[in-house]
Amino acid sequence: MSHQNSEFVLGSKEKLPLFHSQQRKGAAPARKQSPIVRTSKWGLLIIYYVFSVYNVISFIYGNYSASVLYESTSSLSEITQVYFNFLNSSNLASNWSREFTKASHLAGTNLELVHWQASKYEEFGLSHVEIEDFDIYLNYPVDNSLKLLSNSTVIYHPTLKEDELEQDPTTTGPGLVPAFHGYSASGNVTAEYIYANYGTREDFQKLKDNGIEVSGKIAIVRYGGLFRGLKVKFAQEAGAVGVLIYSEPSDDGDITVDNGYAAYPDGPARNPSSIQRGSVQFLSQIPGDPTTPGWPSKGDDVDRVDPHGSIPKIPSLPISYAEIQPILKTLNGHGTKFEGWEGGLPGVTYNVGPVPGYEINIYNEQDYKVRKIHNIYGEIEGFLKDQVILLGNHRDAWIKGGAGDPNSGSAVTLEVIRALNELKTKYGWKPLRTIRFASWDGEEYALLGSTEFGELYHKQLQKDVVAYLNLDDAVAGTQLNLEASPLLNGVLDMCAKQVQYPGNTSMTLYDHFYSWAPKIGMLGSGSDFTVFMEHLGITSMNVVFEPGPKDPIYHYHSNYDSYYWMSTFGDPGFVYHNTMAKFFGSVVLQLADNKAVQFGAVENAIEFSLHFNETAAKIPAEWYDNVLTSMPDESFDSEEFAELAEILSDNFKSWKEYQTDGESYGPSSMEKAITLAQESIAKLISASIRFQERFAKEVADYKYYDEHYSRFNPWAIIMKSQFARRIERSNKILKYLERSFLHYGGLHNRKWFRHAVYAVDRDNGYSAVALPGLLEGIQDESIGQVHKWLWILNGIAKRARFILEDDERIAWFVR
Ligand SMILES: *[C@@H]1O[C@H](CO)[C@@H](O)[C@H](O)[C@H]1NC(C)=O
Ligand SMILES: *[C@@H]1O[C@H](CO)[C@@H](O)[C@H](O)[C@H]1NC(C)=O
Ligand SMILES: *[C@@H]1O[C@H](CO)[C@@H](O)[C@H](O)[C@H]1NC(C)=O
Ligand SMILES: *[C@@H]1O[C@H](CO)[C@@H](O)[C@H](O)[C@H]1NC(C)=O
Ligand SMILES: *[C@@H]1O[C@H](CO)[C@@H](O)[C@H](O)[C@H]1NC(C)=O
Ligand SMILES: *[C@@H]1O[C@H](CO)[C@@H](O)[C@H](O)[C@H]1NC(C)=O
Repeated sequence: MSHQNSEFVLGSKEKLPLFHSQQRKGAAPARKQSPIVRTSKWGLLIIYYVFSVYNVISFIYGNYSASVLYESTSSLSEITQVYFNFLNSSNLASNWSREFTKASHLAGTNLELVHWQASKYEEFGLSHVEIEDFDIYLNYPVDNSLKLLSNSTVIYHPTLKEDELEQDPTTTGPGLVPAFHGYSASGNVTAEYIYANYGTREDFQKLKDNGIEVSGKIAIVRYGGLFRGLKVKFAQEAGAVGVLIYSEPSDDGDITVDNGYAAYPDGPARNPSSIQRGSVQFLSQIPGDPTTPGWPSKGDDVDRVDPHGSIPKIPSLPISYAEIQPILKTLNGHGTKFEGWEGGLPGVTYNVGPVPGYEINIYNEQDYKVRKIHNIYGEIEGFLKDQVILLGNHRDAWIKGGAGDPNSGSAVTLEVIRALNELKTKYGWKPLRTIRFASWDGEEYALLGSTEFGELYHKQLQKDVVAYLNLDDAVAGTQLNLEASPLLNGVLDMCAKQVQYPGNTSMTLYDHFYSWAPKIGMLGSGSDFTVFMEHLGITSMNVVFEPGPKDPIYHYHSNYDSYYWMSTFGDPGFVYHNTMAKFFGSVVLQLADNKAVQFGAVENAIEFSLHFNETAAKIPAEWYDNVLTSMPDESFDSEEFAELAEILSDNFKSWKEYQTDGESYGPSSMEKAITLAQESIAKLISASIRFQERFAKEVADYKYYDEHYSRFNPWAIIMKSQFARRIERSNKILKYLERSFLHYGGLHNRKWFRHAVYAVDRDNGYSAVALPGLLEGIQDESIGQVHKWLWILNGIAKRARFILEDDERIAWFVR
């Protein structure tokens, strides 16, 4: 149902009733011509004609937005074809990649690059190009050292440096960024050390259960699985005094030196000296400036709090596999050896340790200050200013390079802008909706630029933004991965069918994606979509070509994520960059230029239902009889939602009726609460189906008059203006649908995260979980939380239905 195929092929082609009957709330919608129309109540018809005259006058004077549907006359499929053709014949991604990766561009640095990028935005026709600063508390590295001591004598002193390679200019010369962790604590600690696998919550629990003392020790953990900041968080909570995080070669799959592949720069395997830098902020707790949790860091008089709610107190350092090997080897034969904790370093048995008499000294000096970071914005003005498609990509990297992360996304974005400019200048194209571009700074530290932007402009963004589309490491391999709000699944599928997959030209991106992925994934975190989707309820997506199992090893956050690596191993010829520009741009065109917002309300509701059933099945049966004795003490009908609902609806008053729809939600057993929520979600699905059918009809009606009558036929003008107005109303409903999934009270213990259906996994930091509040209540064995979240999810389903049924509540002649 939501897999709508192209702009105006929705719905039936048959000639349709001219207008719909007024629906009373709760009544089944009429599928046929309504009795009101058939009996021709003259009074109503007169009112209808008065409105039509009003519509035409409005159309002539252009004072309501629906009339611009006429102005955007070019066919979307033609425009898309021109866009593809331009990119088939021209590919400058390599040029942009080289430019972005010339010099280090750590958060807040390299103003030259900022101005260069802003000048490109201007050169390629964006208007309102602007650089905005935020004032952020963050660290730059000053000094570090790591020593292995035996009986207090230094027996090994790793360099903590990556090899300089002759072939790869990014790895040598001035401006190299030392190996360090963003938001890591300064410190000088000497302690015995243990090996703690990936450093997950379960890993530290396992150590505890086996009586292995972590307190006072340095924890050595391998990269992989969860976000590195959470490794440090769990180590700190277990009492560790410092952390080393290393790249484990066995996590590289088949492409390893052990399997006979040469290491970079001679082959595709990992260079043994490569080091993964990165942030150790507690991303799943809250992103953004750690001293301003939840409010913007702009100006001199910002209130700031102690940052340690979201950054560690203990020092940590990243290290290569070549340099951790001698240290891990000392643990051989000491302490427990857990099954499944092994890796592939030669001569290492992966015992946990510790070894009496052996210690590590970590010295880490970080310079913390409030510093300026720089976002860049620009736009292509559309006919509609209050319907915005926002595209974002960050600019900052941990290193000089960053050809993959994030500047493959930056190069692709410039290609998209350049190709859209061609449509503007050569074909006089102007999009229906406004397309806005953002180059974020400080993503690497804690999604800084996007989060502070979202926190500063939240009202305007919630009011205007239809969708946020994110590119980060757009090309790091050859395997397409898609993550999105399910509202976007249909449009992503459709666009993926239009673009060829470079890995096999007899396949489209769609064929390729579903050849390995079961479905489009959920958004967790780890990039700039987080504030939009999970804090503001703005429909979002993220797309990347990630490394597949046979691809060259991507040296994430290492000096080897360079232009040389990209052009010789990652994407020779920059064909995947070019493909991404086509795909991403076609999504932008669909969302910005299609008269009907291409969101799938039905798929979205069904996903909600599937997630609910799956999660509710985890509630232990022995809780079913538990009765909720008092209602949750949070206001569900929050001011923020009330404000939005009023923008949307003239009938906000009836929201109260929805809340108490059906049986009143008083004290009830948990079993009953589950059933009530399921019923609400089922009603949401039906309302979504009715909405989508109505919308398809509006579009088909419009199209009928557009195709069968001359542009100057007054009757057709009246009818088209009427249907255009309805389409606009439905577009507006879809724009706000994701907002209705926010619970403004936030998740338990991490209130910044407010999306009730999707959130980043609190113990992972990258991956997503569905229905986080309910799930965490079950995991924490908190009956109170489970009751509360059943009630919230029930309310969320009603609220989404309230928005979708908006049309059914209002008089047909106003629609
Ligand atoms: C892109 O790079 C190529 C190869 O270095 C160069 O010949 C060409 O002039 C560059 N084009 C632009 C527009 O910068
Ligand atoms: C360290 O000292 C202990 C006793 O204090 C001794 O048994 C051990 O051999 C020494 N180790 C080294 C490597 O010197
Ligand atoms: C770290 O502390 C040790 C003693 O605990 C001291 O000898 C050493 O000089 C310190 N290192 C630095 C770089 O300050
Ligand atoms: C241009 O690119 C599009 C999208 O990948 C593809 O469908 C089309 O066949 C290409 N056209 C030519 C002439 O190569
Ligand atoms: C390319 O895709 C086609 C169609 O899916 C498939 O039959 C063929 O085996 C693929 N070729 C390669 C080299 O993977
Ligand atoms: C979820 O479970 C309810 C009750 O069993 C059922 O009616 C509904 O169809 C299920 N939802 C989905 C999407 O399967």
